[in-house]
Amino acid sequence: MFALKTTWFALSLFAQNAFGEIYRHNHTQSYSANLLQESMDWMDMYYDSDRAYLFSLDATALTHDTRASVWYAAGLLARNENDDAEQAVRIVRNVVGAQFKNESLQWFGNYQIYPEEPTVGTKQYQPSIYNTWDPNWRGFIGTTFVVMLEEFPHLIPEDIQEYMIESLFNTTIGDSYRVGGVDDDNLYPAYSNPSIMRAFVSGWVGRRTNDSNMTTAGEAYAKEIIDLFKRDNTLSEFNSGTYAGVSLFALTLWAKYMPETSLMGQYGAEMIRYTWTSLGELYNANLRNVAGPWDRAYGFDMNRYLSILALQMWTLVGKEKAPVNAKPYLMGHKNDFAISPLISILAPYHNTLVPPTTLSSLHAFPETHTVNTSAFSPPYDIYPRNITAWLSPDLTIGAESFSETVVGGPAKNPSSFNPAVIQWARKDGSVGWMSLYAQVYALDVDVGDGYLEVSYPQGNSSSHFSFLVGTSGWGGKRDVASWADVEGLRVNVSGTVDLEYEVSFNGLRGGKGKVVNDFEFWNFTYGMPEGGMGVPRVRLEVEVV
Ligand SMILES: *[C@@H]1O[C@H](CO)[C@@H](O)[C@H](O)[C@H]1NC(C)=O
Ligand SMILES: *[C@@H]1O[C@H](CO)[C@@H](O)[C@H](O)[C@H]1NC(C)=O
Ligand SMILES: *[C@@H]1O[C@H](CO)[C@@H](O)[C@H](O)[C@H]1NC(C)=O
Ligand SMILES: *[C@@H]1O[C@H](CO)[C@@H](O)[C@H](O)[C@H]1NC(C)=O
Ligand SMILES: *[C@@H]1O[C@H](CO)[C@@H](O)[C@H](O)[C@H]1NC(C)=O
Ligand SMILES: *[C@@H]1O[C@H](CO)[C@@H](O)[C@H](O)[C@H]1NC(C)=O
Ligand SMILES: *[C@@H]1O[C@H](CO)[C@@H](O)[C@H](O)[C@H]1NC(C)=O
Ligand SMILES: *[C@@H]1O[C@H](CO)[C@@H](O)[C@H](O)[C@H]1NC(C)=O
Ligand SMILES: *[C@@H]1O[C@H](CO)[C@@H](O)[C@H](O)[C@H]1NC(C)=O
Ligand SMILES: *[C@@H]1O[C@H](CO)[C@@H](O)[C@H](O)[C@H]1NC(C)=O
Repeated sequence: MFALKTTWFALSLFAQNAFGEIYRHNHTQSYSANLLQESMDWMDMYYDSDRAYLFSLDATALTHDTRASVWYAAGLLARNENDDAEQAVRIVRNVVGAQFKNESLQWFGNYQIYPEEPTVGTKQYQPSIYNTWDPNWRGFIGTTFVVMLEEFPHLIPEDIQEYMIESLFNTTIGDSYRVGGVDDDNLYPAYSNPSIMRAFVSGWVGRRTNDSNMTTAGEAYAKEIIDLFKRDNTLSEFNSGTYAGVSLFALTLWAKYMPETSLMGQYGAEMIRYTWTSLGELYNANLRNVAGPWDRAYGFDMNRYLSILALQMWTLVGKEKAPVNAKPYLMGHKNDFAISPLISILAPYHNTLVPPTTLSSLHAFPETHTVNTSAFSPPYDIYPRNITAWLSPDLTIGAESFSETVVGGPAKNPSSFNPAVIQWARKDGSVGWMSLYAQVYALDVDVGDGYLEVSYPQGNSSSHFSFLVGTSGWGGKRDVASWADVEGLRVNVSGTVDLEYEVSFNGLRGGKGKVVNDFEFWNFTYGMPEGGMGVPRVRLEVEVV
């Protein structure tokens, strides 16, 4: 076990009294049942019982979707009404039947993205990792099969169970072909969500099939993940509404299904507690958002895009208090609502691992505080990223210093890597946000009471800082030309930059460019003065008005 880092954390564990346990337990039951029901009601509308697949959630001319089908199948077993179990078995048979069976191909043991797709690897349908095939689907579908086999074996005929084990065996072999940096793959232990799933599936299948090599491989990979985590008790893929959710799901499998003889069984629960502790410290219940920085986010306001973490919060504090819209399927990135059955099935166990202090911070914002931590994603990070966040009741500022070999974070995606973020409460109850667009290899940050300072240590006179700023609330200004037009926040700017700035708009139907993660925004860009000397640096002093 890890040494406990701070005394308050140890104290909060002891503070977990019997009443707290009972209270949490009862609510988890009803909240998670409600999540299962709402998500299944929604997916029922997409189910194609002729084909035993879910139609694509994207309305792509009546094609189907493999991964959502499997998540739905897990939900069918959990619900188990009428012919639910029978339909789940039909889906599983379809998906395993179409699993890639040629051992010498890189995508061996993987699952189709959709059943209508051409054969991956033909002349007309070239293999393209993360496009025509997605290596992470082995983990997503494999872990779902394990949950089905662990939780509902009584509903799955013996021959189908064996078929699923064969499928899991192949998917584990195929997953072992993945080596970060080889064949365009990026699976390093620091790529937290799929790496945690990989270690688990390998360890679980190895034990189930008596394949000691597979068991050993799972343990060895788990050790690398754990060593990286223990450096500062953080996930490498730090603080992401979507992927912290996946990592917590996968760590729950470590904790729940792995024996004490496994490193995963030993460390899973502890890693969940630490991960929730840091998420709880960064959460602002008034804004219903986890403060930045976000390593990989699919939106800028958790109230408006659907994050997997919000589904876990739903099972902890109920839908009303979670960052989820009344109609979750209308939010940005809504297709992830399809993972709800897995979150619901595991909630009764997972939720016992959420520290009481975290649970209480999901209900109410405690008091103004600062969070200091770090995360490390080798080989992309040259040094660990240093994270600082300042949280007050109506304003949060969070940023990370980094020095990397790539632009846009380890996922090389500037749209999802948000290294410096400000969020604030607006009078109408909505949330204002701004995020520094990630355009550089290295960033230094300074964050504190009411300010954010960012600088480019490797920058020069042609550097730019672009702050993407969310649009106004329903009754607010439609046009923004200066900081004075930004709703609910007063901003003073200083630094080595040219203080004349440009404002442009990226909208759904036009403007200078396209929306990012479904969000429209105003782009405030600062350049350097003519012949500007010194390190490019800009400081924002902000105040909620
Ligand atoms: C929790 O459930 C138990 C057993 O079902 C019941 O006795 C108890 O009163 C419930 N407690 C709360 C706080 O709802
Ligand atoms: C499997 O793929 C290899 C490499 O493309 C190919 O040579 C072989 O014929 C394939 N095997 C089958 C059974 O299709
Ligand atoms: C597993 O892979 C083998 C080839 O190694 C193949 O013959 C078999 O059909 C595969 N099983 C499934 C369920 O895809
Ligand atoms: C694995 O080994 C155990 C203990 O020897 C045995 O009971 C079980 O049948 C074996 N399972 C398989 C799939 O070989
Ligand atoms: C495990 O690996 C060793 C060494 O590569 C090999 O000799 C052995 O056959 C493997 N065992 C299994 C069950 O695959
Ligand atoms: C966080 O780090 C900053 C800068 O290193 C330091 O000034 C501050 O006191 C630290 N805060 C906490 C709560 O540790
Ligand atoms: C983060 O802080 C550590 C310890 O002070 C330092 O070694 C490291 O270089 C810092 N990382 C960055 C990216 O500045
Ligand atoms: C600034 O740095 C960029 C990226 O390293 C480089 O392409 C550019 O030429 C530099 N500009 C000046 C004026 O030095
Ligand atoms: C923001 O505007 C600047 C200056 O026009 C531009 O270089 C940058 O690409 C824009 N950023 C985004 C995300 O559109
Ligand atoms: C901005 O500057 C003005 C004038 O110096 C000052 O009155 C105001 O308090 C400052 N606001 C912030 C948010 O720093």
